[in-house]
Amino acid sequence: MNTMSDNNVPTLQARNVTKEFAVSGSSLRRGHIAAVDQVSLSLYAKPPQIISLVGESGSGKTTFSRILLGLTGPTTGEVLYRGTNILALNKQQFREYRLNVQPVFQDPYGIYNPFYRIERVLELVIHNFKLAKTKSQAIDMVDEALRAVDLRPNDVIGRYPHQLSGGERQRVMLARLYLLKPRIIIADEPVSMIDVAVRTLFLNILLDFRDKLGISCLFITHNLSTAYYLGGQIMVLCFGRVVETGSIDQVVHNPSHPYTQQLLTSVPSIDPENRWSTRSNLESVERPVTHEANKCVYVTRCPYAMPICSQQRPPDFATGEGQYAACFLHDRNVEKPEAAVEAGFK
Ligand SMILES: Nc1ncnc2c1ncn2[C@@H]1O[C@H](COP(=O)(O)OP(=O)(O)OP(=O)(O)O)[C@@H](O)[C@H]1O
Ligand SMILES: [Mg+2]
Repeated sequence: MNTMSDNNVPTLQARNVTKEFAVSGSSLRRGHIAAVDQVSLSLYAKPPQIISLVGESGSGKTTFSRILLGLTGPTTGEVLYRGTNILALNKQQFREYRLNVQPVFQDPYGIYNPFYRIERVLELVIHNFKLAKTKSQAIDMVDEALRAVDLRPNDVIGRYPHQLSGGERQRVMLARLYLLKPRIIIADEPVSMIDVAVRTLFLNILLDFRDKLGISCLFITHNLSTAYYLGGQIMVLCFGRVVETGSIDQVVHNPSHPYTQQLLTSVPSIDPENRWSTRSNLESVERPVTHEANKCVYVTRCPYAMPICSQQRPPDFATGEGQYAACFLHDRNVEKPEAAVEAGFK
């Protein structure tokens, strides 16, 4: 689906990325699943933008982010950095890609060396990229980076990773990015382990990074309220497929895919203070065991399922300005069930 914001070459682009995994087990269950199923995405650095990738557990979010980061390869499809397949980048371009596309993980504890004081991750960046000319300049830079993420240097400098809270460790990671100034941050569930107050702080830092440093972000979450707080674009992932995309305002206030509609009924109110439980009304959902390419992934749960939904994979239909849904309810040539017409699908 298209999330283009201008006509330039995207800084990072996924084109029809699919990742299949083998499913072992009894002969009945053996097969393969498409953890990520023909997902396309364009992330631009200019103007900087935030795209939230929202989906339930197991929908393929982490797999997709690992493919974008070059940590694992897609089964089919490609990832492009500034228009070049990341596998075809020369040494210099690859370094640039690695530097400019930076991850933030759920809890970065594993990334820190437990034997080094916390400021070392910042000092290393300054040293490796020769960001400072003198020692005192380096010290000032560490202080500035910590303040940029709302940490008081005196509170954290000299402490070891285990002596910080999860939220503080997360923010030191953002301080590291403040120094590195990548073009794109890929954040996989960065706030799911931290409490609500700190979560808002963290999201505000990402918004600040976009507005003041021009850093774009792919924000991966199962929490629709968090995505709403950030604004920008949203991609809704269901069993590896993007079923709806558009601006978050449009998608939340005028969802055009039955899956998105169902997800929204489980959000009491769109409020970042309110945790969105993806489990509430999707309890019985089980991922199809084998990959069924030629049908809608949502067909077994869809209240408006039509015969065509089990026969073909729905293409993307424009449902609003810059909004798309992969759903035959938007195909003018398909006759809809009465319930769907009553629900507003014409
Ligand atoms: N290395 C692997 N081998 C086999 N299957 C895998 C592998 N990695 C992921 N999967 C499967 O792919 C699907 C997508 O997993 P993924 O971790 O990308 O989901 P997710 O959206 O990040 O979920 P969560 O919200 O729980 O983090 C799941 O069904 C998972 O079991
Ligand atoms: Mg995940």
